[in-house]
Amino acid sequence: MLRYLREYRWADMREIRANNRAEQRRSEARMDGKLCVITGSTSGVGWEAAKALASHGATVVMVNRNKGKSERTCEALRTQFGAECSYHLADFADSAQVRAVADALVRSHDRVDVLVNNVGMHSTTLARTPAGPEVVFCVNHLASFILTWKLLDTMRRSAPARIIQVNSQGHRFGGLRLDDLGWQKRHYTGLRGYGASKTAQLLTVWEFADLLQDSGVTINAMHPGAVRSNIGSNNGPLYRWFKDTILSRTLKDPAIAGQAIHYLATAPELADTTGQYFNLTHPEKPAPHALDRAMGRLVWAESLRLAGLA
Ligand SMILES: NC(=O)c1ccc[n+]([C@@H]2O[C@H](COP(=O)([O-])OP(=O)(O)OC[C@H]3O[C@@H](n4cnc5c(N)ncnc54)[C@H](OP(=O)(O)O)[C@@H]3O)[C@@H](O)[C@H]2O)c1
Repeated sequence: MLRYLREYRWADMREIRANNRAEQRRSEARMDGKLCVITGSTSGVGWEAAKALASHGATVVMVNRNKGKSERTCEALRTQFGAECSYHLADFADSAQVRAVADALVRSHDRVDVLVNNVGMHSTTLARTPAGPEVVFCVNHLASFILTWKLLDTMRRSAPARIIQVNSQGHRFGGLRLDDLGWQKRHYTGLRGYGASKTAQLLTVWEFADLLQDSGVTINAMHPGAVRSNIGSNNGPLYRWFKDTILSRTLKDPAIAGQAIHYLATAPELADTTGQYFNLTHPEKPAPHALDRAMGRLVWAESLRLAGLA
């Protein structure tokens, strides 16, 4: 563990510490008539975001993988907030399913005001997709890349519109090597696999922001706080014991993540803010390796190729 913590790129530790302690910013803006697409809204951060947006009047369209959970969470939004809610299903480890669900979204909605790419996972064991890359990279980065790419025209037509990539301080673990996305050449660890996926996502946020310049569509990334959720529940008993008995004591109520996403989606003072990384609601400097624009262009090209979008 210590070995991996040493690899963590703290960048500006004072800024991170100050942001962790700072009071969060809030927005009271209503979202009536706004259509928000949220991925992974069956638990944790995504569920809190869905509640925060629905409680302010938004129509919620979920993209999840589990039909039963989607039915229940949509029904809860309808009952609790009188919100309109619908859902689409896709396994984000499978790029073909993500492309298909993105096409379905484009066909069924002529506007998308807010896109929250939230689906994410952390795996302590290495698994590869049939195409070669490691699964966490595909779920955390490639899927959000495909959805964002395919919804660009709809969002441009809906401008002003906002895209929020739920990223993580875990990007600071690094681990991204474009010549080894399948981890055939080095030892895989969960932290570095997670770091690689979140670094790739951040590097493409800056590229998307450039592409969307002057379009009225903004794109920002955020760390949703260290909050209680189901993340990691796919891992083994030792990991789950560590999370449930040790880590959980330090984790915060996930409602703060939902409120932060509502703030980033609506705050008037952020209308023109794009290409920014936030620690919850506070702007923060990402790790240096996540600011390497030359690398970002390579990740962009490789993501298009892997996603079958080139
Ligand atoms: N919790 C934290 O402290 C923390 C910190 C930093 C960043 N984050 C980020 O926050 C985001 C949300 O995580 P969380 O903590 O809220 O975790 P979570 O409770 O496990 O929620 C993850 C969501 O993603 C869905 N999902 C996972 N794998 C999927 C797949 N292959 N295809 C489709 N959907 C899938 C889950 O669906 P099911 O319900 O079907 O499993 C669930 O809806 C992630 O991007 C994570 O990296 C979380």
